Amino acid sequence: MEVPFYRHSVNKDDIARVVSTLEGMFLTTGGVTTEFECKFADLFEVNHCIGTTNCTSAAELALRIWDVGPGDEVIVPTMSYVATAQSVALRGAKPVFVDSDGQTGLIDLNQIEAAITENTKVIMPVHLYGVMVDMVALKVIADKHGLKILEDSAHAVVSSRDGIKPGQMSDAAVFSFYATKNITSGEGGALICNDDKFAEDFRRGTCCGVTKTAHSRRKEGEKAYVGYDSVQVAGKCNMTNIQASLLIGQIDRLPMDRAKRGELVALYRKLLADFGPVELPHAPDGIDSSHYVMVALLQDGTRDGIFRTFGEKGIGCAVNFDPIHLKTIFKQLSGYKEGDFPVAENWGRRCITLPLYNGLEEEQVRYVTDTIKAAYGK
Ligand SMILES: Cc1ncc(COP(=O)(O)O)c(C=O)c1O
Repeated sequence: MEVPFYRHSVNKDDIARVVSTLEGMFLTTGGVTTEFECKFADLFEVNHCIGTTNCTSAAELALRIWDVGPGDEVIVPTMSYVATAQSVALRGAKPVFVDSDGQTGLIDLNQIEAAITENTKVIMPVHLYGVMVDMVALKVIADKHGLKILEDSAHAVVSSRDGIKPGQMSDAAVFSFYATKNITSGEGGALICNDDKFAEDFRRGTCCGVTKTAHSRRKEGEKAYVGYDSVQVAGKCNMTNIQASLLIGQIDRLPMDRAKRGELVALYRKLLADFGPVELPHAPDGIDSSHYVMVALLQDGTRDGIFRTFGEKGIGCAVNFDPIHLKTIFKQLSGYKEGDFPVAENWGRRCITLPLYNGLEEEQVRYVTDTIKAAYGK
């Protein structure tokens, strides 16, 4: 049996929507992008959504609009994908890492205040694997120190905690539609927020700071040429109609997709329950997870053997994540070293991400867990 690590669930209707876009005039940002943005903002009950080319650019642009730059610090968990810290480093600011909670892998809220200095501008929590950080508790800390919150919600497209969703208790939240995410356009991203002025600056910031996009100029001027100004320093990271076409149908299927993932996660948890060499992250009360990935923690020192066995048995897997502070660039930039964040380092040595997606069959889940148990001689 083969068990690929991931399969997307783009269907015939999604493909038809892309074809229809390709047959139309606007391949870049246009009406389909607006349709996606309205749908996505509604999902989180927020005022604004702006589509982007990816999550990393969206995070960097949000920080740029808040004027985060050299000399400033942004608090991030070390247990995340490098993009979280890279969006800060791209601004010339310093990502200040915080260790993980040993039960969930999430940023340890009890260690955030000790990391705050007079240079801290923003806290960037990560809703790891789709399990949201306690935003009520985090907002208390942020308000006490006058800090902004930017939620890295790359894993949390359909998550909530105590009924609170991304974007509802922060200044903004950013999302990824990278190839393996719950919904995908290969690459893609979005920012959501409630503040009108910030949304306007961010939208302009996705498109060279221009006051009128090609689409709005075309609509206003019909056939006559309409000019534009550029009013802020900005690069380009606007979502295209092609990306948006792929995403619209997937948004509608999110509840169904999450339910299926939830069933598969429950099966994994049942089959691996009380199996000594494998520990599963704790799911706190009040969490409605997107079930972005199925992570297990293996007995320390045994993971390379499991990688080899999976390779032989045709099972795909991944690592989410190696702690960011140990990546070469962050050791070089800020002098972080092994031993700085022991909980995340332990997690990073032991974690393995098992196959999880809508089309995964129950018998494939059993094959994965049987393979793990056999590898430990059980
Ligand atoms: C936690 C987290 N943040 C940010 C990103 C970056 O997303 P993108 O690839 O869309 O820039 C990822 C991507 O995998 C991620 O897992």
